[in-house]
Amino acid sequence: MTRSKALISLSFLLFYFYHTTGATLAQSPAQAPSKSEAQAPAKAQTPTKAPTSQPVVEPPSEVPLVQAPPHKALAGPTDVSKVLEKAGSFSVFIRLLKSTSVSIQIENQLNVSNSLTIFAPTNGAFSALKAGTLNTLSTEQKVQLVQYHILPTMVSLQNFQTLSNPVRTQASNTNDYPLNVTVEGNYVNISTGIVNTTISGTVYEDNQLAIYRVDKVLLPLGIFAPKPKPLAPSPTPVKPSNESSSSSSSSTSSSSSSSTFDNSPVAAVDASMALSVTRNGMASVAVFVVGTILFLGSF
Ligand SMILES: *[C@@H]1O[C@H](CO)[C@@H](O)[C@H](O)[C@H]1NC(C)=O
Ligand SMILES: *[C@@H]1O[C@H](CO)[C@@H](O)[C@H](O)[C@H]1NC(C)=O
Ligand SMILES: *[C@@H]1O[C@H](CO)[C@@H](O)[C@H](O)[C@H]1NC(C)=O
Ligand SMILES: *[C@@H]1O[C@H](CO)[C@@H](O)[C@H](O)[C@H]1NC(C)=O
Ligand SMILES: *[C@@H]1O[C@H](CO)[C@@H](O)[C@H](O)[C@H]1NC(C)=O
Repeated sequence: MTRSKALISLSFLLFYFYHTTGATLAQSPAQAPSKSEAQAPAKAQTPTKAPTSQPVVEPPSEVPLVQAPPHKALAGPTDVSKVLEKAGSFSVFIRLLKSTSVSIQIENQLNVSNSLTIFAPTNGAFSALKAGTLNTLSTEQKVQLVQYHILPTMVSLQNFQTLSNPVRTQASNTNDYPLNVTVEGNYVNISTGIVNTTISGTVYEDNQLAIYRVDKVLLPLGIFAPKPKPLAPSPTPVKPSNESSSSSSSSTSSSSSSSTFDNSPVAAVDASMALSVTRNGMASVAVFVVGTILFLGSF
């Protein structure tokens, strides 16, 4: 009797063993494919991100302006950034000059003996802008904005009244980027069509370059003009309702085809599980049969 009891408990033990191992076997194949799927798209994303974020901001920060001072003795151009740095309170404009590479363009123009006038807005002028104004601009718009602050000739304070409006700037054209300068008594007034300001000081002047301080950022119409919103959203919703019915039918067909793709790995997992179950099942049946024979034989 004690031997038969031991055999019964042995066969139960074997069943228990089969069930626990069967459960772990069923879990492991299901986890493996989901892991490899999660890794694959992550790898695919990283190379596409890298090139888009870098190209524009990097080149200008390569410090050609720091190298200029030693050459200055050899008749190099005036270092505009350095002049502005020395004057103080122009750090935002300096940063814009460099990040847009307009600083390099200025250096080139001064190198070939062209003359320039620069309206330099103070840090206070930039902080008076609506929050995020610069961040919403594209790289090209930032370049245009900076070039709008530069006239392609050196204009002394006395000579502003000789200019005819709109004044030509280094921005692409005077239609999109008009700038009016008017002399009123001791004031040199500047109007962009969006902001009015006055030259509030001379930062630097020689026979090739003049830098004037302005207390407002000169916002050009070409970038900051209030845009009238198009009044034609009504025809668009009509068509999509017709198109959406046809596109929804195509989307259901595509979703059904994608569901068959989803099914195939699941079916493969099912098959492997069934295989392991039958293999383990056959083993446990054999153990059970042997156990039963031994159990019956003990009588
Ligand atoms: C300007 O000229 C100086 C020498 O006169 C030179 O070292 C410098 O590279 C030039 N800069 C540019 C932007 O051409
Ligand atoms: C020119 O600027 C001065 C100082 O800001 C101002 O008093 C004057 O009204 C301006 N003139 C015009 C025509 O805007
Ligand atoms: C500039 O002046 C011209 C002519 O005086 C005028 O037609 C134009 O509206 C002015 N534009 C701006 C932005 O002040
Ligand atoms: C700029 O000044 C002109 C007159 O010179 C005026 O008509 C216009 O409204 C002013 N614009 C702003 C934004 O102050
Ligand atoms: C919209 O659908 C109707 C019937 O479903 C059809 O007669 C009509 O030509 C469709 N219009 C367009 C623009 O596809």
